[in-house]
Amino acid sequence: MNPWKSQPIIGQAPMDGVTDAAFRYITDLHGKPDVLFTEFVSVEGVGNGAVRLLNSFITHETNTPIIGQIYGTEPHHFYTVAIIVAELGFSGIDINMGCPDASISKRGAGAGLIRTPKLAQEIVRTVQKAQKDWSNGITVDDIALRGSIRKWVSSHKPKDNPRSLLPVSVKTRIGFDEITTSEWIPHLLEAQPAAITIHGRTLKQMYTGQANWEEIAKAAEMARTTETLILGNGDVHSRNDALNKIQEYGVNGVLIGRASFGNPWIFTGEEVSNKVRLETALEHCKAFERLTPEGHFLSLRKHLAWYCKSFRNSAHVRDQLMRVQSSADVEKILNSVISTLE
Ligand SMILES: Cc1cc2nc3c(=O)[nH]c(=O)nc-3n(C[C@H](O)[C@H](O)[C@H](O)COP(=O)(O)O)c2cc1C
Repeated sequence: MNPWKSQPIIGQAPMDGVTDAAFRYITDLHGKPDVLFTEFVSVEGVGNGAVRLLNSFITHETNTPIIGQIYGTEPHHFYTVAIIVAELGFSGIDINMGCPDASISKRGAGAGLIRTPKLAQEIVRTVQKAQKDWSNGITVDDIALRGSIRKWVSSHKPKDNPRSLLPVSVKTRIGFDEITTSEWIPHLLEAQPAAITIHGRTLKQMYTGQANWEEIAKAAEMARTTETLILGNGDVHSRNDALNKIQEYGVNGVLIGRASFGNPWIFTGEEVSNKVRLETALEHCKAFERLTPEGHFLSLRKHLAWYCKSFRNSAHVRDQLMRVQSSADVEKILNSVISTLE
């Protein structure tokens, strides 16, 4: 399943703490985006044996391509985790070069890589080499790995996983302190990633201001004579908005992030009733318990708040939902509300 094969692509953006297995499952079921991403995973963390980080790579049965996203600075750890991503059956591997979080960018990872383009290129090439080696038969048994990580991978890898060359992509921003699209994007293009997703803000902007789609269009123009696809990202608020931006800015697709909170239907453009929204909230909670039984149920409270709005008494229902510990608690609260809705 090559995620980049047919275009235009309208996919869900990777979001740490949000696009876990359960939300990806719900988005897939109700929105059918063209591509889904995991939350990002630290290659140094996994390389040093932090097995709990691999929970972000838990996934579900689907025909939608899912891309494993990773971040870090050490090429040898990228190599190791790239082999793990292939072994786990993902359809692609994405390198985060856009995270503005100080704890990540200050050590040179995420958007920090915009300041070290040679290292960024080396990382892309290392991950491409890992995919080539994996398609030629290397397995996790051939690489140095902590025992706990090896065990996790062998218990989570799919039984049937034909070897193929996974496409390597990058997700980044338009600059660090200031806009440097014209210098930064050519460095990435030299390493020939299959796709680059560009969030139209600098690191310094974090999430403030408006995403700059003119800069995204500039990058799309630079890539026109290459094999690399360009996806735009930032402030897309509906399916129609996505389609318009693809036309207007000449990109091969877009990723939608925050506008999909509590709204997996954004990818189809369907408007759903409050009743369907709340039924889906409950379905989401049950999927969480099924797919990640060891996960912290508290992480679902934000999703519940996103689903539960715009109907009479919704603030009061949200308050109640902020105390739930299980899907059974959610069911009790929502069933009484659902029966009063159309
Ligand atoms: C809560 C949250 C977590 C995020 N985590 C990631 C991540 O793990 N990897 C990544 O590449 N981008 C991450 N992002 C950035 C989004 O993928 C996206 O680039 C950004 O939200 C802009 O798109 P939007 O305006 O459609 O939300 C995150 C954003 C948010 C709001």
